Amino acid sequence: EEALEEFFREHGDKLAAVIIEGIPANNGLLIQRHDYMRQLRALTEKHGALLILDEVITGFRLGMGGAAAYYGIRPDLLTYGKIIGGGMPVGAFGGRADIMDLLSPLGPVYQAGTLSGNPVAMTAGLATLRKLADGRIHAQLEERNRKFVSDMMADLKGSTVNIAGIASIYWIVFQRDIPRAAHAIDSDGVAHYNRMHEKILDAGIYLPPSGYEVCFLSAAHTGDMLSNAARILVQAIRQEAHVWA
Ligand SMILES: Cc1ncc(COP(=O)(O)O)c(C=O)c1O
Repeated sequence: EEALEEFFREHGDKLAAVIIEGIPANNGLLIQRHDYMRQLRALTEKHGALLILDEVITGFRLGMGGAAAYYGIRPDLLTYGKIIGGGMPVGAFGGRADIMDLLSPLGPVYQAGTLSGNPVAMTAGLATLRKLADGRIHAQLEERNRKFVSDMMADLKGSTVNIAGIASIYWIVFQRDIPRAAHAIDSDGVAHYNRMHEKILDAGIYLPPSGYEVCFLSAAHTGDMLSNAARILVQAIRQEAHVWA
């Protein structure tokens, strides 16, 4: 927070915009403190810079309001992808009406593309969002993820492994404290992840191929599947953590 203050004091008036993933989930799962994001919102407002929240991963995954609702902030613009295409390729952005009105045909900024508004992607996205709208799937995923992570953590008690989790996202780290910034991710820990990855692949579980990537539950993951996966994961993690501890 101090670094943020200092940065804005020095450069704030030259900044057009700040773009940030609210919960960085592209390079570890780096859950930020509410105060940090609220301060960023206050500073951008004070210095006349736009706050653009990248909700490509978090949008409609952390509930319908994404990371913005999680932190209780109102960004000027938001970007979306993934879920809003229901598996089909799509990207979108939205935000303050006075900014969006700058786009054609109302304003001078032209934005278009061959696949913009592609009907198949739009239909798949709409169907997904309609299924999510009543919050039941989010609640179920959150509950399953919480149980999945806490069951594994209980079995890994006393080890040098941590699992960060939020909504339907989890991230396994071979280090004692869950990092909140990219520079705090231990590269030795990632090497342990990579070895574990190979072992559990043989046991039928396919995690992302890098320790810097996070994992997602989907509505298709049943409680039984997750219990089975947790058992295999704990066994593989223990072998690696034991070597490391
Ligand atoms: C947080 C985040 N922002 C932006 C992007 C880029 O999205 P696209 O590949 O649709 O351009 C990604 C892609 O994974 C992402 O995870």
